[in-house]
Amino acid sequence: MPTGGAGDPINVYSELEPVYGDATETARRRYETIKAAFVERFGSAPEAYARSPGRVNLIGEHIDYEGYGVLPMALAVDTVVAVRRGCDQLVVCNVDAAKYPEKVFSVDPAQEVDVGKHNWGNYFVAAYKGVFEHLAEKGQQAPAPVGLEIMVHGTVPTGGGLSSSAAIVCASAMAVMRMHGIEFTKGEVAEFTARAERYVGVTSGGMDQAISIMGMPGIAKLVEFNPVRASDVVLPEGTVFVVANSLAVSNKAESATKHYNLRVVECRLAAAALALALGQSREEARKIITLKEVEPLIEAKYSGPKASTSGAQLAAVQELLHDGAYSTGEIEELLGTKLTDLYEGNASALRVLGANDSFELKKRALHVYAEKQRVPDFRDVCNSGAPVDEKMAKLGQLMDESHASCRDLYECSSVELDALVQVNKGAGAIGSRLTGAGWGGCTVSLVRQEDVDAFIEKVKEGYFQGLVAAGRIKAEELGEHIFASKPAAGGAVLNLRL
Ligand code: GLA
Repeated sequence: MPTGGAGDPINVYSELEPVYGDATETARRRYETIKAAFVERFGSAPEAYARSPGRVNLIGEHIDYEGYGVLPMALAVDTVVAVRRGCDQLVVCNVDAAKYPEKVFSVDPAQEVDVGKHNWGNYFVAAYKGVFEHLAEKGQQAPAPVGLEIMVHGTVPTGGGLSSSAAIVCASAMAVMRMHGIEFTKGEVAEFTARAERYVGVTSGGMDQAISIMGMPGIAKLVEFNPVRASDVVLPEGTVFVVANSLAVSNKAESATKHYNLRVVECRLAAAALALALGQSREEARKIITLKEVEPLIEAKYSGPKASTSGAQLAAVQELLHDGAYSTGEIEELLGTKLTDLYEGNASALRVLGANDSFELKKRALHVYAEKQRVPDFRDVCNSGAPVDEKMAKLGQLMDESHASCRDLYECSSVELDALVQVNKGAGAIGSRLTGAGWGGCTVSLVRQEDVDAFIEKVKEGYFQGLVAAGRIKAEELGEHIFASKPAAGGAVLNLRL
């Protein structure tokens, strides 16, 4: 049985069945195609395969990088990396060569990743660097780097908010480890791949990598950080989560300075401004990185039993931060430093500062302090003894509140996502929200098992039919854009004889 603990070793199997379950035959045909592409390009079969899944986040959006727990589950869609030692370079190919052309890199783990060029091969290099860096951090002797031949195949939609990037980074890291005979625990891989992905230019949190590595069939996970760990959340009987893709593509890496990385900067500046208002010196406030670090300061100000609750944190934000945007000048005056000095050496943040001169602090902090409470609330509802209908109603309400907060306070929704959420609700979703980074990509809806087929039909009519009519998508591909999902297996190395 696979286990999902941070201290466990990476899953290694010699069969497809433990990963793909009922879908093993379809998976076998897919792996045969990957192998055939590998043989055609490199002349003989791969030594091993590593695969890691995409994920859907059920609740807890844009709070992982603020230090708060989130509640995702792994999906059945994944990225497979077939690999063999050979040559003296990293030759990274994709079965879909027309979309993802071959890329060649040196074996030097110290090479730079060129974030200026959004090149799909960068994800492999980021993982490769991450493995060697993690060895160095642990003070372990690194093996001599060897050249690798690689064939990738992914089924996680890209730009869809389902973590296609974590899937390729995690699968690549496990492939590199396997080829160099390196073993790390799941927790270690989750942590270093999260850092490694930042080479691609997004200052993301650690949720996607953690669930991609630690996901388990049938079980959603409460993922917490510092150190990363995952605990099981058993979803109420008869609940199904339906993922639907708005088809508005949002690539986190390409839009980072205006979207994702900007939000990370805004949260830090909000935390610093709050700390100042709570009596910290400028010097102390400048050291604060996350809103979570401000909690004890709020607790000290509002003494009493409720001082450590989300309610007290929201009250503090309401009282201490002003409405509307803060200009760069205003923040620099508050903190007594140039923002470019505050972020010295942080290339991603410096690009944000170059592209923006005003920052929303209050709305962002209000979102984070409310959203982080919805995560334990969601878990507690799942664990409670309440009747299933009552549980579902409460979970649905939390999901709806989360979407409203993402839309109105965090401003990470989009016209398409809002329209799709509305169609989902009209089609009978008990709760529905955007999932992942947002600004496009997917929604997740909570639906009763017996209603799933009717729900999917209604959403196809209400949202996708128009896109089919307009020639944007093909009717026979609709199953890729809307599907019911059960929690699926996490990452694994597969030593297969195909
Ligand atoms: C992306 C990031 C995650 C997380 C989500 C938003 O998926 O990679 O770390 O921040 O966005 O919740």
